[in-house]
Amino acid sequence: MTPVTAKIPQHVAIIMDGNGRWAKQRGLPRLEGHRRGVETVRTVVDAAREIGIRYLTLYAFSVENWQRPPDEVSGLMGLLDFFLRRELDNLTKNRVRLHTIGRTQELPENVQRELRRVTDATASFTEWHLVLALNYSARTEIVDAARAYAAAVAAGHTSPDATTWDTFGRYLYTADLPDPDLIIRTSGEQRISNFLLLQGAYAEMVFTPVLWPDFGAGDLQAAVTEFARRERRFGLTSEQVKPATS
Ligand code: IPE
Ligand code: IPE
Ligand code: MG
Repeated sequence: MTPVTAKIPQHVAIIMDGNGRWAKQRGLPRLEGHRRGVETVRTVVDAAREIGIRYLTLYAFSVENWQRPPDEVSGLMGLLDFFLRRELDNLTKNRVRLHTIGRTQELPENVQRELRRVTDATASFTEWHLVLALNYSARTEIVDAARAYAAAVAAGHTSPDATTWDTFGRYLYTADLPDPDLIIRTSGEQRISNFLLLQGAYAEMVFTPVLWPDFGAGDLQAAVTEFARRERRFGLTSEQVKPATS
C-alpha cells in the first residue's frame, strides 16, 4: 500500500476569498472581513505545518486588486504590514521561511521594508516555506519572465535554442519553488483569477463554499483528504500510475 505520507501534498496554494462577503453578511465594513482573514492566515500556517505541508502559498493581493476602492487597498496594505510585524516571532520560532511572488517592488515602502526584514530573518530555514503572492498576476509573471529571459539572451547568457520548460522556468517568480500539488479556493467561486496558471498546470483543485474568515484547520485537513483520494495521472493512463498491487 502507498504510505499515507506520500499523499500529503508537498505544496498547497490557496486563493483566500470571501472576506468581503463574510463582513457583508454581518453588516460590517469589508475591512473587518480582511482583519478576520488575517487571523485565519495564522491558523492555516500552523495547521499546514502540523499536517506536514512543506510549502504553503497564499494569494493575498492580485495586480487587479489595486482597482478596488482606495480605502480598501490602503486598509489591506496596513494589514499586511501588521501581519508581517506580528508574525516574525511565530515564523522564526517554527522555522518557517518567508518567500514572496509578485511585483513586490510596487508595494508601499513600509511593506517592502517589513517583507525584507522577515524574508532576511527566515532565509536560513529549509523545512517549512510560506509564500505570499503579493501584487501577483500570472500574466505579469510571464511578461516579467519573458523580459528577463530576453535580456539574458541579449547578454549572451543563454540561447533560444537551448530553451526548455526547465530553463525558462528559472525566470519565473517561482524559480526556487516546487509546483503546487493542490490549489484550494474558498468562498464558492470556481475560478483561478490569474493565479499560478503555469505552475498549476497539473494541480488538483478543491473548491469549498467556506468563506476565508471561517476557514479552519479542519477545512484544510478536509481538502488534503480530498487530494489524497484523487488519482493524478499527468497524461498517463490509470493503469500506468497505479502502484503495483501484489
Ligand atoms: C479576498 O476576499 C481577499 C482579497 C482579494 C484581498 P475578497 O475581498 O475578495 O472577498 P469577496 O470576494 O468580496 O467576498
Ligand atoms: C483573487 O480574489 C485574488 C486574491 C485572493 C488575492 P478576487 O476576489 O480578487 O477574485 P475575483 O475578482 O473574484 O476573480
Ligand atoms: Mg473576492
